[in-house]
Amino acid sequence: MAYSEKVMEHFANPRNVGELPDANGIGEVGNPKCGDIMRMYIKVEDNVIKDVSFKTFGCGAAIATSSMATELVKGKTIDEALQLTNRAVMEALDGLPPVKVHCSVLAEQAIKAAVSDYYRRLGVDPTPIVGELHDCEEKACACGH
Ligand code: FES
Repeated sequence: MAYSEKVMEHFANPRNVGELPDANGIGEVGNPKCGDIMRMYIKVEDNVIKDVSFKTFGCGAAIATSSMATELVKGKTIDEALQLTNRAVMEALDGLPPVKVHCSVLAEQAIKAAVSDYYRRLGVDPTPIVGELHDCEEKACACGH
């Protein structure tokens, strides 16, 4: 399966790239197998993700999924952002080849990691709200691998 036009477009022209200087939540996740790393920055105000950006050191699908994930959570409440699944990111990109599904898991987990960091900075334990972060190798993973 080839990459969809949307994946190619987000890879060539990623949205919301770079650091967010006034971020109040930063999450970094990595995939131990491929070694790719994704970092998400969020700026939360009144429970809403007012701004979001990312830096990804990884494959083209990781860049495209990071880009789409930022677009999907921007302007959303934290609760809505936590509902974002890797499947929703993939659907928004018109699909990914099966071997690239794990890249979208990284994007979902990076958003959750940033929200966890936001709560930690407030002195709140994020685990009951965000849940345990996991990577694609674990059984709880939604990507179906
Ligand atoms: Fe590792 Fe895509 S190959 S995130």
